[in-house]
Amino acid sequence: MRGERFKAVADAIAASIRAGDLPAGSRLPTHRELARERRIALATATKVYRELAAAGLVVGEPGRGTYVRDLSGFAGLEPRRLPPEHRVADLSFNQPLAVDQGDHLRRALRRLAAEGDLAALLTQQPPGGRHADRAAVAVHLLDRGIDVPPANVLLTAGAQHGLDAVLAAIAPPGAVVAADALTYPGMNMLARTRHVELAPVRCDTTGTDPHDLERLCRRRPVVAVYLIPTLHNPLGFVLDADARQRVVGLARRHDFAIVEDATYAFLAPEAPPPLQTLAPERTFYVGSFSKNLATGLRVGYVVVPEAHLGSVTRALRTGSWGTSGITSAIAVGWLRDGTVTRLEAARRDDARRRQSVARQELAGLDYHAPSQAYSGWLRLPEDARADLAAHRLAEQGILVSTADAFATTPHTPSALRIALATPALDQLTHALGRVRETVTRL
Ligand SMILES: Cc1ncc(COP(=O)(O)O)c(C=O)c1O
Repeated sequence: MRGERFKAVADAIAASIRAGDLPAGSRLPTHRELARERRIALATATKVYRELAAAGLVVGEPGRGTYVRDLSGFAGLEPRRLPPEHRVADLSFNQPLAVDQGDHLRRALRRLAAEGDLAALLTQQPPGGRHADRAAVAVHLLDRGIDVPPANVLLTAGAQHGLDAVLAAIAPPGAVVAADALTYPGMNMLARTRHVELAPVRCDTTGTDPHDLERLCRRRPVVAVYLIPTLHNPLGFVLDADARQRVVGLARRHDFAIVEDATYAFLAPEAPPPLQTLAPERTFYVGSFSKNLATGLRVGYVVVPEAHLGSVTRALRTGSWGTSGITSAIAVGWLRDGTVTRLEAARRDDARRRQSVARQELAGLDYHAPSQAYSGWLRLPEDARADLAAHRLAEQGILVSTADAFATTPHTPSALRIALATPALDQLTHALGRVRETVTRL
C-alpha cells in the first residue's frame, strides 16, 4: 500500500512535468512541504524525489532545493510541452508512444551501459547492420511468415531510408514505378528527388485494382510496383489474398520488382500472407520499428532478394555508410526481451480503441477505416474544399492532411487523412469533435 502511495505521488508530479504544467526551472516543494501537502511520511517524500531524479525529471541542488529539469533537448517541439495556448492535436502524423516508454528506454540504456564492450558501439557498423542484429530481426519476421536468412535482412534508419535504398538500387532516373493513385507521401518525395516516375494505379478503400496495374504494365515499361498491402496509408485497406496473387502473377509475367511497405503490418497479424512470401525472388519487404516501438528511434529493415543484396547494400553505404549501432542495439534488445511483442499487442488494442472513438465522433460522415487501423480517410463532398477544412482546423490547433500529399495523379479527391495515434485519448476525442463540426459547416 505504502509503495503504491509513493508511486502515485511520483507519477502525478511526473505527469505535471511532462504536460508542461510544471515548466523547466520550477522549484518544487521541500521534502518536508511535500510530505505535509500529500500527507505522506518524510521518508516517502524523499523516495518520491529520488524516483523523479532517477527518471531525469528533476534535479536536487544541495542547499537550494529540487528543480524541474529542462527537458526541451529531449522533447524538441513536442506539442504537449508547449504552453496550452500553443498546443496542437496532431492528426497529420502517426507517432504512437506509450506513457511508460521513457522508462523502457532508461532501462535499455542502463542495460546497454552495463553490458560488454560499449566502445564497440562507437565504431562504424557494416552497412545493413551487424550479423547478430540482422539475425534478431530475421527471427522477429518468422511470426509474419517470412523465413529468410539473416544475410537477406538489411538494417536501415527507418522504412523511409529502406525505400530510398531500394529505389536507388532498382529504379534509375526516368524509370517507371507503379504506385497507388493515393499513396504514402514519403514515396512521392523519394520519387521526385530520384527522378523516378510514379505511374498511378487505380485504388479505393477496398484495395489496389490489379486490372488497372495490368493495363499499365502493357503500356509502360514498369520496373517495380510500390504497394502497402496491409493497412494502406492513407486508405486503410488490407489487400485480399486474391489481389495479392494477381499482383505476383503480373510481376512475374512482366518481370518487375515488388516493393512491399509493411510499416503498419503488425497491426493486422490476421492479414493474408505478405507478398514477400509469395514472390521472395522479386519482393523487397520494407519494415520499420517506428510505429510499433518509436518513430524517433530511426530503425527499420529491408528483406532483400538474393540477387539484389549487393546493390541495396551499396545504396545504404552511399546514403549513410550504415546505421547507428546504438539505436539498432536498443531495438534488438527490445526484440530479445519481449518488449516489441508486448508493445505490438498494446498498440493493437490502442488502435482499436482510437478507431472506435473516431467512428463514434465522426458517425454519419463519409469516414472509412478498418477497426485495426491507426488512421482513417474522411471523404468530403466533391465541391467542399478540403484545404479550407484543413486551414480552419489548423486555426483551432488541429493538424490534418489533405489528399494532395498522397496523390500520384493531378486530380486529388476532396478528403482528409486523419491520423489517430499521436494525441492523448481525451485530446483526440476533443479534436475529432472539432473535425466533425468544421467539415459539416463547410
Ligand atoms: C506507409 C509508410 N511507410 C513508411 C513510413 C516511414 O516510416 P519510418 O519512420 O520507419 O521511416 C511511414 C511513416 O509514416 C508510412 O506511413
